[in-house]
Amino acid sequence: MGEEGFSSDSSLLYHVNPPTAIIKSDALADFAGEARLAANHPLLPRHYKTQELAAKGDAVLGRQPLMGNDDIRISFVTVDSPSELYRNSVGDEAVYLQNGSMRFESVYGAIDAVAGDYVIIPRGTIHRWLPEPAGPAAVPVTALVIEARGHIRTPKRYLSQTGQFLEHAPYSERDLRPVRGPVFAEGDDVPVIVRNRGGLTTLTYAHHPFDVVGWDGCLYPYAFNIADFEPIVKRTHAPPPVHQTFEGPNFVICSFCPRPLDFDPQSVPIPYNHHNVDSDEMMFYVGGDYSARQGSGVGIGSITLHPSGFTHGPIPGAVEAVIRGMEAGRTTTDETAVMIDTFRPLLLSDQAAAAEDPDYAWSWAKAASHD
Ligand SMILES: [Fe+2]
Repeated sequence: MGEEGFSSDSSLLYHVNPPTAIIKSDALADFAGEARLAANHPLLPRHYKTQELAAKGDAVLGRQPLMGNDDIRISFVTVDSPSELYRNSVGDEAVYLQNGSMRFESVYGAIDAVAGDYVIIPRGTIHRWLPEPAGPAAVPVTALVIEARGHIRTPKRYLSQTGQFLEHAPYSERDLRPVRGPVFAEGDDVPVIVRNRGGLTTLTYAHHPFDVVGWDGCLYPYAFNIADFEPIVKRTHAPPPVHQTFEGPNFVICSFCPRPLDFDPQSVPIPYNHHNVDSDEMMFYVGGDYSARQGSGVGIGSITLHPSGFTHGPIPGAVEAVIRGMEAGRTTTDETAVMIDTFRPLLLSDQAAAAEDPDYAWSWAKAASHD
């Protein structure tokens, strides 16, 4: 398997049987029809509560697309069953596991994914997701799925000319957990769900695609846990690029992690009102106490969308609250969030609309009049 016409990263996989032998091809209804995405019009900032997305399924066909465009699709899934074998031939995927644990199995090997993991799956990797058996007190397995139309990679500015992580990067090779394996399996007449730009197809393979006895190369799935991101902190507020974790075609993925607050005695350690003129900003709140959003209804599991064309910032009163906290000795923030900035507008799905908080757009004005 090789990227960019075999002029970029590649790996050799040693199959027992020909990986080419297909015996059947059937169309499969798409779980995420493009037609259901509509423009954010009339323009509004949005707040969705993923806790209110009731549907469950496997980690592939159970995805509920929330927003997307020609570069990316962002879905949420509550996982209650193992997936079929799946190959995304449109682009790489980043699966962010919010809660629970899942075993990722692929032609390369397996990753035992835990909450906070980003699992990066190169385009074309045949794989499946197996949720770990849940005990009576276990939280449901939930994940944010980012499907790119291209490759998801480490930001170039974190790497040396020859591809080593630089010392000042917020993570390094030692934080990446590659697949372990291979996971060897044999069998006949094995269905694989393939996504290409035409939609979904079930291709039936004569031999199990996991009949790989070994592989070598630099193209393979890996996991990176958000808790291993080393936050970069300034004396005064640092803008989002310090949180960047991955880059994709026309989007970036950032991780907001527990960190010391800005440490100038005069600093106001939450974002100023800002207008990100070239981006739509999607934020998924996964942990901690989000100071800048207090009083807006945003909590763990919320997704906000602050689109281009709208100036946003902390809820009125949040600045005063955080300053009071600092005066009382607070020096850290425990917030954890995943942010995706897209450079083209995000279209919105019906599923997202069903979980929308319709009052969010007015929360800045309401909080201001309340003060
Ligand atoms: Fe923002």
